[in-house]
Amino acid sequence: MSTEKWQATQEIVASALEYRSKFDLPQWKKFIAENIRSSPSEQIAHKCPITSRNFFKPRGYAGDAIVLDLLYGIELDKYGVDKLGYDACEVYRHNCAQPAARAVRFRRKLLAEYIDAACEQRIGMASVLSVACGHLRETVWSESLRKRNFETFVALDQDEGSLKVVARDYGDLGITTVKNSVLDLLKARSGIEGQTFDLVYAAGLYDYLDNDVAKSLTALLFGKLRQDGKLLIANFLPGIPDVGYMEAYMDWWLIYRSAEELLACAPENSNARTFTDPDMNIVFMEMTKTPG
Ligand SMILES: C[S@@+](CC[C@H](N)C(=O)[O-])C[C@H]1O[C@@H](n2cnc3c(N)ncnc32)[C@H](O)[C@@H]1O
Repeated sequence: MSTEKWQATQEIVASALEYRSKFDLPQWKKFIAENIRSSPSEQIAHKCPITSRNFFKPRGYAGDAIVLDLLYGIELDKYGVDKLGYDACEVYRHNCAQPAARAVRFRRKLLAEYIDAACEQRIGMASVLSVACGHLRETVWSESLRKRNFETFVALDQDEGSLKVVARDYGDLGITTVKNSVLDLLKARSGIEGQTFDLVYAAGLYDYLDNDVAKSLTALLFGKLRQDGKLLIANFLPGIPDVGYMEAYMDWWLIYRSAEELLACAPENSNARTFTDPDMNIVFMEMTKTPG
């Protein structure tokens, strides 16, 4: 990327963060409406396919599985990245290099490691549930998934379009897709009642859930674990450097949680522990079902 373009995009990100820190939420929203919408800086930012897709929300919400593919660098030609003009490509590449983007790529690899660990512990017998699976791209990094070293793998999401991609790309590995929402899960009408799992995980979901739903869902998912089973949940941390840009230019408003706030969602006796990605943008909470 040319230094000039990189700096211009960097300045947009930095000034968004600076303005955000000066205002309370209503003032920040007013500032965005009056100063960012239809501004020259917004026109530059929206050249990036991640930014414009989140902003225009063709699936009705920001952060869909295609946005994640764009961040992971998957099927870029299909999404037209190879045909982007020079400026658009520069802004896109800049955004892919930001800490939040690095953090979601770290998260994807971590999920694959958890899947492999669960499958290696119970060779050929492991049962895994991915909640809000998106396109389930961690499959690419998981040897156990690719080698079908599991008994059951359930990929659940509310988005039918994403599940079709999972079925198309990974259906022959024996993965079962389930179209359902968190609400369906909480109302016990998800179609997976009675099933238990060695690993349950949710990445890119809790950032959309309020505290009450997050707490209820964590208790429900923890209840689905077998003995020694693990539940892994991810959430973006407050104060990430990209938050100003995400809110102002992508209209992407996540619910950020500290490690303590995420731990407050854990059931008692769930042996919860937390850790972060190297950039400290995402907090992970791992819970383990132990006897007694
Ligand atoms: C940011 S993507 C994450 C996808 C994938 N887990 C990953 O890490 O690449 C968020 C996913 O959460 C799903 N989602 C959001 N709210 C949901 C809900 N209430 N019930 C089920 N899925 C939901 C979306 O459909 C989307 O596929």
